[in-house]
Amino acid sequence: MKRLHGKTMLITGASSGFGRGIALACAEEGADLALVGRDEGRLSEVAEAARSQGGRAVVCVADIGDEAQVYAAVERARAALGRIDVLVNNAGMNVTQRSIADTSADQWRQLLNVNLTAAFLFTKALLPEMIAREAGTIINVASRAALHPHLAGGVGYSTSKQGMDALTQVTNEEANRHGVRACLLCPGVGNTPLLDRRPTPPPPEQRLKMLQPEDLGAVVVLVASMPARVNIELVSMLPTRL
Ligand SMILES: NC(=O)c1ccc[n+]([C@@H]2O[C@H](COP(=O)([O-])OP(=O)(O)OC[C@H]3O[C@@H](n4cnc5c(N)ncnc54)[C@H](OP(=O)(O)O)[C@@H]3O)[C@@H](O)[C@H]2O)c1
Repeated sequence: MKRLHGKTMLITGASSGFGRGIALACAEEGADLALVGRDEGRLSEVAEAARSQGGRAVVCVADIGDEAQVYAAVERARAALGRIDVLVNNAGMNVTQRSIADTSADQWRQLLNVNLTAAFLFTKALLPEMIAREAGTIINVASRAALHPHLAGGVGYSTSKQGMDALTQVTNEEANRHGVRACLLCPGVGNTPLLDRRPTPPPPEQRLKMLQPEDLGAVVVLVASMPARVNIELVSMLPTRL
C-alpha cells in the first residue's frame, strides 16, 4: 500500500524547487494534490507528472500575497478534492537586499506577507474543518533561519521564518487536543531557483552538495504518513558536507 493512499494535500509553491519535489514525492505515494502558485504553466507540468502516478491533481493559480486569492485557492481545492487532509505551507521568497539598511519597507511587507501571513491564512481557512474531523497535518516549510536568524538570510526573511515557528507552536497548542498536528520543517540550503536571488548565486559544484527537492519530498511523506498519534513537531535538516 502506498503511504499516502487516500490522502488529499494542498501544497503551496508547488511550481518550483522544494514544493515541486514535495508534490512529486507525495504523488508517488498515492496522494491527491491541490497545487498552488502563480505560474500556471509550471503548475500544470507538475500536475501532469503527479497524475501519471495515478492520483488526482488540480492546479490552483493564486498570488498568495493576496488574501482573497488564498481563499479562492482553498475553495478551488475543496471543490476538486473535497476535504484537505494535509496542508503544506511551502511557498516563499527572498529579496537580494539583506540588511536593515538596504531592505525597503515595501520589501519587508512583501516578505512577511508571502512567507508568513499566507501560511496563517491557509491555516485559518483549513484548520476548523481539520478540528471538526479530529484529524489533519500542517507542515510549515521554514528554514534554518527560523532557528538561527541571520543577516546572510536577511532581516525580512529571517523574521518571517521565525514567525512560522510561532505559528506552528500556536497551531499545536490550539489543535493537538483535537487530533490535528503541525510540523515546523527547517531545511538548510537547498538546490533550488531561490538561490538565483542571492547576491552571489552559488556555483554548480556547490549546488550538488546541497539538499535536493526530493530530500524535502521524502521528509514530508514521512511526517504526513506517521500514525495519527505521532506529531513530528520540528525537523531540522542540513546538507552533510557543506
Ligand atoms: N532553497 C533553499 O536554500 C531554502 C532553504 C530553506 C528554506 N527554503 C524555503 O523553502 C521554500 C521553497 O523555496 P524554494 O527554495 O523551493 O524556492 P523556489 O524554487 O523559488 O520556489 C518558491 C515557490 O514559492 C512560490 N511563490 C513565491 N511567491 C509566491 C506568491 N506570491 N504567490 C504564490 N506562490 C508564490 C513560487 O511559485 P510561483 O513562482 O509559481 O508563484 C514557487 O513555487 C520557501 O519557503 C523557502 O523560503 C528554501
